[in-house]
Amino acid sequence: MKTIVSGIQPTGSLNIGTYLGSIKNFVKLQQKYSDHHFYLFIADLHAMTTPIDAKKLRKKIKELAALYLACGLERDNLSLFIQSEIPAHSQMGYLLQCFTYMGELERMTQYKDKAQKQSEGIRSSLFTYPALMAGDILLYDAEYVPVGDDQKQHLELTRNIAERINQRYGEVFKVPKPLIPKIGARIMSLTDPMRKMSKSDENVKSRINLLDEENIIRKRIKSAVTDSDQTVRYDKQNKPGLSNLFDIRIAITDESVKEIEDAYADKGYKDFKEDLGEIVVNELLPIQKRYRELLDSGELDQILDEGKQRAEKIAAEKIDSLNRILGLGRKRKQKG
Ligand code: AMP
Ligand code: TRP
Repeated sequence: MKTIVSGIQPTGSLNIGTYLGSIKNFVKLQQKYSDHHFYLFIADLHAMTTPIDAKKLRKKIKELAALYLACGLERDNLSLFIQSEIPAHSQMGYLLQCFTYMGELERMTQYKDKAQKQSEGIRSSLFTYPALMAGDILLYDAEYVPVGDDQKQHLELTRNIAERINQRYGEVFKVPKPLIPKIGARIMSLTDPMRKMSKSDENVKSRINLLDEENIIRKRIKSAVTDSDQTVRYDKQNKPGLSNLFDIRIAITDESVKEIEDAYADKGYKDFKEDLGEIVVNELLPIQKRYRELLDSGELDQILDEGKQRAEKIAAEKIDSLNRILGLGRKRKQKG
């Protein structure tokens, strides 16, 4: 069966950037690729690449799992699991480091950005992180990997690593393709539309968190930075703030730019922002309700256990076969 793989780090609060760039896209893809199996995981090992409090991490993992599900994922063709619960991810990460060059890792822009922000020193895992990520994907022979724009470079590296190993050892891995949504791949900060909306931005006004209260959501949109012109028109160059609000709206409603521009031909930013507040609230409130129900239910643990079981088996087989191909360990009779 063809597979689709993606992960999200359990750090910070999930915001609509992550939601529209990744989770919502995932939900849409589940409908489009209903004959594929989806492996979706909480990337807690990735969260260890920068300092994080153990108690906080534990809490975040469960919250993120509940939030993922609350966003409307179909359960039939989904394995939802926690990365660290499957040792094959760490094993694969190491093995792929052996096929990744320093020069490649040094070019990663996310590494360069994050490295600059480290006050306690840069963990070597932050540097080798793309190899771990490549492992997450190649373990399951992913056909597609839905991610936001900022992960494109990591995906490109994953493809290079897979091709490099295939060239040397035969067809070991499927070479995965990124699936980057046309709209929503890069939701920008509400206070600075030239920067990505980020869960680590110190300014809380820069984003809408998925669990924000209704009045906060409306307030954040109302105060979003826009230009002083009043014509509701999509123009990334000259109206980056407003265009970002367009992107948020379109990623939710699937309207076209023209439809929206026409609807506001006689109206200004105030109306546009008020309506967007309504749209975002209507999108997020049902998610918040389901989230609260799931978080306190045994159902969540059951789903995570089932996800783990299935992923674990596939991943362990892949590691066994890779060890064999690479000549690691002793020669053993092949099972089955
Ligand atoms: P992260 O929350 O950084 O682990 O990212 C999880 C997923 O959300 C990745 O696929 C990112 O590319 C995507 N993502 C994060 N921030 C944004 C954003 N501002 N706009 C669109 N996608 C995003
Ligand atoms: N690195 C991704 C991020 O920070 C999260 C991630 C880890 C991921 N492993 C992955 C995404 C595998 C897709 C596939 O957003």
